[in-house]
Amino acid sequence: MTFNHQNTSAIGIGTWHLGEGNQTKTESEMQAIKYGLDRGINLIDTAEMYGDGLSETLIGKVIKNYQRDNFQLVSKFYPFHATPKLIEQSLKNSLKRLQTDYLDLYLLHWRGNTPLTETVSGLEKMVQAGLIKNWGVSNFDLDDLKELSATKDGSHCRINEDLYNIASRGIEYSILPWQKEHGMSFVGYSPFGSDGGQFLKIKPIIQQMAKDKGITPYQLLLAWVIRNHDLLSIPKTASVEHMQSNIKAVDVQFTTDELQLLDQSYPKPTSETTLETI
Ligand SMILES: NC(=O)c1ccc[n+]([C@@H]2O[C@H](COP(=O)([O-])OP(=O)(O)OC[C@H]3O[C@@H](n4cnc5c(N)ncnc54)[C@H](OP(=O)(O)O)[C@@H]3O)[C@@H](O)[C@H]2O)c1
Repeated sequence: MTFNHQNTSAIGIGTWHLGEGNQTKTESEMQAIKYGLDRGINLIDTAEMYGDGLSETLIGKVIKNYQRDNFQLVSKFYPFHATPKLIEQSLKNSLKRLQTDYLDLYLLHWRGNTPLTETVSGLEKMVQAGLIKNWGVSNFDLDDLKELSATKDGSHCRINEDLYNIASRGIEYSILPWQKEHGMSFVGYSPFGSDGGQFLKIKPIIQQMAKDKGITPYQLLLAWVIRNHDLLSIPKTASVEHMQSNIKAVDVQFTTDELQLLDQSYPKPTSETTLETI
């Protein structure tokens, strides 16, 4: 089946840095993922890079107790593993750690030196072998997407995963519209500005509006990212409490006035900007 974010839950589960702590922390992280899966979140995002495989290993321990076709699994390979031979090797290693026999989506984590034609041909082979259902890319700017779509089978790319939160809105200008036009789903990462909110300044307007709406600033940030129901956001949390809070955020709505107020503090892009990445 072709991947489409409309068929997934409104948020997925981000997993960067999971599985890197002690046993107590790891147990809490596994509980958080279980909590999400048990309440209908049906996509998990990981990468061979995360903790050098530790994130995938932790996910594998959780998902072996779940029916595999009830959720979608996304992983990513390094740009220096983007040749057909190394893609196959990386993929098989990821599948082993994840204790599964296929991925729903396999993404080039960011662009490197391998020609896109080679990478696409390697990914298509993995689709034919039944090891992945679909493939995509991450951290691709508009020029990269256009170049990709012009390569043989490049139009089979199902998703592009880029940074997207209230303080990093560049993708709204042309990447998101281009992806919509080309039927490519958009996945936005780091809705809270990454671990500890290090890449997102929570301004007083967010504190005030969240208070007025009876929600937390983090719930407001997440609800804002998915406000138009046109993309998937993949927040990461290591705790059940935060997972619960993030799931509740899906139901938060904004009035036009509220959105305009937020635009004043976090303006929409008005021209093409270089893609921001973390
Ligand atoms: N493709 C790429 O290049 C790329 C790059 C970056 C990220 N990603 C993906 O996107 C996912 C999300 O991005 P991210 O991990 O950078 O950061 P993020 O989701 O923006 O933020 C995670 C931080 O927010 C905190 N948090 C989560 N829910 C919260 C809540 N309800 N209340 C208060 N704090 C909360 C987390 O703390 P706790 O853990 O304590 O809850 C953690 O410190 C990643 O895990 C990864 O899967 C992809």
